[in-house]
Amino acid sequence: MKTAVRYYTRTGNTKKLAEAVAKVAGVEALPITEPLTEDIGTLFLASSVYAAGVAGDVKKFIANIDVQVGEVVNISTAAIIESTYAQVKSIVEINGLKMSEHEYHCRGQFTLMHRGRPNAKDLRDAAEFAKECLGQ
Ligand SMILES: Cc1cc2nc3c(=O)[nH]c(=O)nc-3n(C[C@H](O)[C@H](O)[C@H](O)COP(=O)(O)O)c2cc1C
Repeated sequence: MKTAVRYYTRTGNTKKLAEAVAKVAGVEALPITEPLTEDIGTLFLASSVYAAGVAGDVKKFIANIDVQVGEVVNISTAAIIESTYAQVKSIVEINGLKMSEHEYHCRGQFTLMHRGRPNAKDLRDAAEFAKECLGQ
């Protein structure tokens, strides 16, 4: 089955992870403004939090999925919270999709916090995670 990578970013951090994952998957990391156009086995969905919440655009993207998706794999950056997993899982399941129990999360730079994150190691770890998910 095919793999797709979608991301939402405001300051570029999460896009870096999405691109590392997409490289492994051999696809292009696209913003969530690009809807899925074909059935997908694994959807890597990269998101973050702003004032403790996942962006409304991520919720809309998930709600508007009108192709078959085998499972959604969560990828995230944030400055304080440990992951967007719980929030995204709830949105994914409300919309009748399956959420993978596996995820990748790392810190993302926010003002003076976590400068340079995601860094080179974070990107390598994200790529390794994607390989494992895809059985490579
Ligand atoms: C407006 C704004 C609000 C944020 N609020 C939170 C927050 O409530 N909790 C948190 O852990 N990180 C918060 N952050 C930090 C971001 O989650 C972090 O910098 C993340 O890596 C940003 O991803 P992006 O560069 O892909 O947009 C906030 C960042 C911004 C810009």
